[in-house]
Amino acid sequence: MYVCLCLGVTDGQIREAIYEGCCSYREVRNALEVGTQCGKCACVAKQVVKETLAEV
Ligand code: FES
Repeated sequence: MYVCLCLGVTDGQIREAIYEGCCSYREVRNALEVGTQCGKCACVAKQVVKETLAEV
């Protein structure tokens, strides 16, 4: 599903970024630019990061 509509970032891409080494929302944001436009997706994006980090 799309987490960030402004930049077309999916939850799959966020997970992928974490599997590839990102270990915080900040790092995911820097890598994918998720949440850098309107910012509305930040809450959901953080949640996806949190859930994925809990799995790995
Ligand atoms: Fe992600 Fe707007 S939906 S910055």
